[in-house]
Amino acid sequence: MTKISISILTKNDNNTIEELNKLDFDYFHIDVMDGYFVKETNFPVSKINQISNIVKKPLDVHLMVTDIDSYIDNLSLSNIEYITIHYEAFNGNIELLKKIKKKGIKCGLSVKPITSIKETFYLLDNIDLILIMSVEPGYGGQKFIPSSLEKIKELKEEINRRNLTTIISVDGGINEDTAKLCIESGADMLVTGSYVIKADNYQNAINSLRNHN
Ligand code: DX5
Ligand code: ZN
Repeated sequence: MTKISISILTKNDNNTIEELNKLDFDYFHIDVMDGYFVKETNFPVSKINQISNIVKKPLDVHLMVTDIDSYIDNLSLSNIEYITIHYEAFNGNIELLKKIKKKGIKCGLSVKPITSIKETFYLLDNIDLILIMSVEPGYGGQKFIPSSLEKIKELKEEINRRNLTTIISVDGGINEDTAKLCIESGADMLVTGSYVIKADNYQNAINSLRNHN
């Protein structure tokens, strides 16, 4: 079944996290913005470390930051399953990917809408997850970019051709309709923010994303 990762970018008070803790989904997605790689700034490392102590699901940390190394060094690793860094920020430094793995954390690589997915193929052996950005990184609540579907298909074909186990995750503008299209194109995981957080019933909204399997 498609994995669901809930972004708490727009609502991350303790009550919301406690409420989500009781529900059936797979990961908490933590969007980390440094004010350089993206304009916005949010979650200092101390806040992420505090969140990691109260969540009852593993964390899927999305680093939209330039100084990747210092974030990896300062994150408390409890409850983190994935750390995802940006292809456009890591400067081909495979050591950063290896550093994440050496800490026993799964390693993800995120790709902005403008970046060709083919550029990342040489790295597929070193990563556990590719995060396809289906909106410009920086804000929740944006509209899904349809050309992301072609990227998912292209990537899925390559993963299958090489018999890899790399997971495809999609982030941005996910709702019931776009979820269906992403799953049909080959997505294994969906990141969802506003669609679930704005719903009256979080669990029903989560289920509606997974019903297309
Ligand atoms: C955008 C973030 C996303 C975002 C998703 O930069 O990476 O995780 O919060 O939010 P929605 O689902 O509202 O597009
Ligand atoms: Zn994200």
